[in-house]
Amino acid sequence: MELDEAIKGRRSVRRYSEKAVSEEILEQIIQAGMWAPTACNDQDYRFIVINDQNKFDELLSFGAASFLKDVQTAILILYKNTSSNQEYKDYIQSGAAAVQNMLLKAYSLGLAGCWVCNLPSQRVMRQLFHIPRTYSVIALISVGYPTSIPKMVNRKKNAKDVTCLNAFGFDEETDPILDRKKALKRLLRKIYYRLPKSSWIKNWAEKLEKKFEN
Ligand SMILES: Cc1cc2nc3c(=O)[nH]c(=O)nc-3n(C[C@H](O)[C@H](O)[C@H](O)COP(=O)(O)O)c2cc1C
Repeated sequence: MELDEAIKGRRSVRRYSEKAVSEEILEQIIQAGMWAPTACNDQDYRFIVINDQNKFDELLSFGAASFLKDVQTAILILYKNTSSNQEYKDYIQSGAAAVQNMLLKAYSLGLAGCWVCNLPSQRVMRQLFHIPRTYSVIALISVGYPTSIPKMVNRKKNAKDVTCLNAFGFDEETDPILDRKKALKRLLRKIYYRLPKSSWIKNWAEKLEKKFEN
């Protein structure tokens, strides 16, 4: 597959057919993640394949993205968080680079995935998956054979709009309403993950999540 076709054709897919994803395919996807660059070439990622419905149920009960209820296979990407460059949180960057490679590989193999950060807190994730404190969850990706490919989400800007020469040359207009909206969203997110997941909250959250979807 051509690189441009992979980059532009990959879509976030959240609904999959019943067809199981084989171990070989999962290995190829993870291996592709491991070809991504990592800070100091540390390669300090860890991957947890999730195929146990109980694990998905636990994630959902703590407020994870609701489309996971119909997902059979996912991969949790962890990265060691003890790196010396905390200023740039290079462990997150290294883990994220692996995630994108994995999604591209899945697409090139005729599968699809979705990058998910709508997950319980790191503390809860550690408990659920027995993760030591020295590792952070970077993301989860769902993986499967797509039932349909969602239409492309147009990029909001082109390269010229967001690029400048030698120094930051943009008029950053502050938008107080947008800032307040974001602050409110941060607060709601905090509250949401602390609330017991009664059904009306789940229904409400599910509707909100549609906003993420293509
Ligand atoms: C860091 C990150 C976190 C994301 N978290 C979620 C998520 O929790 N739930 C979800 O449905 N999609 C999530 N997405 C997928 C985005 O919604 C999706 O990439 C975006 O709408 C663009 O669509 P495309 O991937 O098809 O181009 C996430 C993507 C990124 C990069």
